[in-house]
Amino acid sequence: MGNEMGAGSDEIIAVDRPIGLFDSGVGGLSVWRAVVQRLPNESTLYLADQVHVPYGARPRAEIEALTHKAVAWLLAQNVKLVVIACNTASAAALDSLRQRWPKIPIVGMEPAVKPASARTVTGKVGIMATPGTLQAERFHLLVERFAGGVDVYTQICPGLVEMVEAGQLDGQEIDARLHLLLDPLTDRGIDQLVLGCTHYPFLAPAIQRAVGQEVTLIDPAPAVAKQVQNVLASRQQLAPPAAVPDHRFTTTAAADAFAATIRRLVGVEAPRTTHLATTTAIS
Ligand code: DGL
Repeated sequence: MGNEMGAGSDEIIAVDRPIGLFDSGVGGLSVWRAVVQRLPNESTLYLADQVHVPYGARPRAEIEALTHKAVAWLLAQNVKLVVIACNTASAAALDSLRQRWPKIPIVGMEPAVKPASARTVTGKVGIMATPGTLQAERFHLLVERFAGGVDVYTQICPGLVEMVEAGQLDGQEIDARLHLLLDPLTDRGIDQLVLGCTHYPFLAPAIQRAVGQEVTLIDPAPAVAKQVQNVLASRQQLAPPAAVPDHRFTTTAAADAFAATIRRLVGVEAPRTTHLATTTAIS
């Protein structure tokens, strides 16, 4: 189990390597939090491409290219598994990432259409996500496959990602925006609302206030963490119970501001953040 083995190796990868997580920004920290809760001995390396956030309205090919560069960087840091902690990046790039690195386990995300459709009593579910996620072929196949007989109402949410990036999680401006975006869904009688972008769970209290207690919010992060555990267990790559975890955070924007947002969003007191120059790694 040598640490010297490179990405793509056929050999067993050392269990003490970190799990790599990637998002356009801080949203993937909602997934990071679930992974760390479920797997407290695992080390992590989180990459946020904040110089390019938001990804949501960018052309698919651009999102795909940015995501490939981010994953290449994570693999160069010797991560043992990659989590694409971003619905938009997963929709654009998951298939081509798996083609390019078939030996590396890559866990992606998709809006939780399946659980929402299984749980709905009113037969109406809402999905909040970015344009990139909702326009993707992947999303249409998901609805076709799992939402038979259920009315699916989608909603793009301009501005919300920017607010979470700025650490703004509450207040009148957010409440007003959420009502504007979500009243059309509640008016239709949805009883399940899928948080189809990893930034949105940080707005969950405000979203719940906007839609009322009768609507159940679905955050897929715990299911993603479970999937990470299953994949590592099946490859015998889980960190041993005595392992002391190490968590590192890298951003393509300013490291200080990133640290402050990490503290705010997931309560890590003194996060170790570094800046990654996009000219060399992600252009
Ligand atoms: N957090 C990302 C997601 O889950 C997208 C945010 C963005 O638009 O960059 O879709």
